[in-house]
Amino acid sequence: MRLLPLVVTVVFTVAVAYYIYIPLPDAIQEQWKLMLLDAGFRTAMHLASLKHWLGIDHYVTSIRGSTSVFEGTMKGFMSSESGSAVIPGVKVSDIEFVGIPVRLYEPPAGGEGHLRRGLMYFHGGGWALGSGKKGSYDANNRIVSDELNTVVVSVEYRLYPEVHFPVPYLDCLAAAKHFLSPEVLAKYAIDPERVAVAGDSAGGNLAAAVAQEISLDESMSVKFSVQALIYPVLQALDFNTPSYIQNQHIPVLHRTLMVRFWLQYLGADLSLLPQLMVNNHSASHHSTITPELRSRVDWTTLLAQKYKKNHKPVIAEKGSNEDVKVPGLLDVRASPLLAGPEVLAKCPRAYVITCEYDVLRDDGLMYARRLQDAGVTVTNDHIEDGFHGSFSFTTWPMEFHVGKRMFRGYLNWLQNNL
Ligand SMILES: *[C@@H]1O[C@H](CO)[C@@H](O)[C@H](O)[C@H]1NC(C)=O
Repeated sequence: MRLLPLVVTVVFTVAVAYYIYIPLPDAIQEQWKLMLLDAGFRTAMHLASLKHWLGIDHYVTSIRGSTSVFEGTMKGFMSSESGSAVIPGVKVSDIEFVGIPVRLYEPPAGGEGHLRRGLMYFHGGGWALGSGKKGSYDANNRIVSDELNTVVVSVEYRLYPEVHFPVPYLDCLAAAKHFLSPEVLAKYAIDPERVAVAGDSAGGNLAAAVAQEISLDESMSVKFSVQALIYPVLQALDFNTPSYIQNQHIPVLHRTLMVRFWLQYLGADLSLLPQLMVNNHSASHHSTITPELRSRVDWTTLLAQKYKKNHKPVIAEKGSNEDVKVPGLLDVRASPLLAGPEVLAKCPRAYVITCEYDVLRDDGLMYARRLQDAGVTVTNDHIEDGFHGSFSFTTWPMEFHVGKRMFRGYLNWLQNNL
């Protein structure tokens, strides 16, 4: 009987399809590609957890390893050596800014009396993964440098588990201060009136936090003129915003993963995850969380009805959860959305990309709204069919139309505002 192999094949196929298939909202395009990508990520996470549990490797280092293998394999299929479009005119060098590794992109034109734009970029990856030197980050920074005649500096700040908050923030801040010094701007022929800070996801968090600090720093003669925040992470008090609930299972940033990234970044006990999921860490009896602070992340007043829908706020009442201690929870350097209006008022003009299918949608929408209320000019580009991570899926093999559209939007905004 040849029945057994057939049965095995069918069962296996069904199992694989079951593992890969996830129901996605109709508005999201290229669904199968996204499902495969998500299945790849999930597999990497599962393998990493297994290795961690077996004591072979820290799971974060293991995930980094598997994404490199994935990229390496894909690049093997390609004729060009680097996965990114190499733009001949752009000079790329890996150097250090006050001891922090950065990748510098210098556009072909410029020098000799022609001042260029400047842009500092912080990549995303939950403060634990990613590198500005890889994939779409590298490709996109080259394009910005070339098309907008911009000196781009992409910062390789240190990551978890080697470090946690505030180290990544301090690395970025130090690199930013160095970049904005009159000597460095002069050295690279950058116009001090046209320097941007930008970042996506955790990098958007760092960009927002660094922009705030620089805006307040009286000793800095040159400040960022604009900030571009791509689906930034901005607060850790409420993991039950409408977007956290609506998009909790949408790839690639699942709700539990974002909460985990926060615990790691803040150096908190990872076993607190279930508590944070129900907002026990920001329960109403926490006296340090004043009504004033709460109002700064209060989506019931900061979001439009279109986003609030029928969602109800989750505020844990009381109980014996005094031991839900999360260091840095109220530190504005970690949660820029907690800054007061007097701080926001000093911040540079902003471009904020938010995606409908992203747990962080409401973080970005609330920040855009609060900056606006503080008198800052804000362009909020809300991507109706966008999902978290799409901005860095613009190069083959991880290429999505929506990501390319977002990148063009970002480029156009910089063209007109920087
Ligand atoms: C949240 O806190 C309450 C009150 O202490 C507790 O009963 C509940 O188990 C906590 N929830 C979780 C998921 O730990």
